Amino acid sequence: MKKSAFPQRAALAFMVCVLPALLLLVHAQAPASIKGAPASFTAECSSCHVAYAPFLTGQANWRGIMAGLDKHYGVDASLDDKSQHDISAWLLANAATSGRRAAASPEFRISRSEWFIRKHSEVSAAVWKRASVKSASNCAACHIGAARGDFDEDSVRIPK
Ligand code: HEC
Ligand code: HEC
Repeated sequence: MKKSAFPQRAALAFMVCVLPALLLLVHAQAPASIKGAPASFTAECSSCHVAYAPFLTGQANWRGIMAGLDKHYGVDASLDDKSQHDISAWLLANAATSGRRAAASPEFRISRSEWFIRKHSEVSAAVWKRASVKSASNCAACHIGAARGDFDEDSVRIPK
């Protein structure tokens, strides 16, 4: 039995010390993206702003946004047919289906939804206008995990 002690310990040391370090490294290098998102969503919908997680709003808003990408808040964000189809299907399948989040809002904006305004009532007008924030649409300015779809209140940091 003694003979196998070394390889066993080496394997144990690998699992305890090296493996977690490797996993951390892989995790740190993987680009942040929302779990289950098609690659086209991460590529096409995060080049100008953080890719907004589908559960942040309902099907009505997503339909409106996806139908108007050629005139998207002053820019042309139109897609090839396959990306248009894949992204729409995924957003609709993962949209909020009940409660306040499912409701439609002005300009199809998440940031103009009733739930959004309520949740951000403690953020003052001056904070929204800071150069480091720019606009309420800029979720990632304050929500460190926004690109992963993490809006937990424990990971909010308002920039100076
Ligand atoms: C070429 C740049 C560009 C691309 C690409 C783009 N957007 Fe936008 N998007 C904008 C701009 C500009 C705004 C308005 C931001 C503001 O008001 O500060 C916006 C706003 C939005 C909003 C509303 C945010 C709010 O205020 O609640 C949503 C939702 C949105 N985009 C979804 C998408 C989706 C989905 C895609 C991919 C299909 C996409 N965007 C691709 C430029 C882009
Ligand atoms: C200026 C900073 C700032 C910006 C920009 C911002 N938020 Fe927030 N957000 C906050 C603060 C502060 C809270 C309240 C945290 C608390 O309740 O302690 C909050 C709360 C939330 C909550 C509720 C979290 C919970 O656990 O109750 C959600 C969801 C959320 N924000 C989503 C968004 C989305 C989506 C965007 C972009 C469209 C956004 N936020 C932009 C600062 C910001």
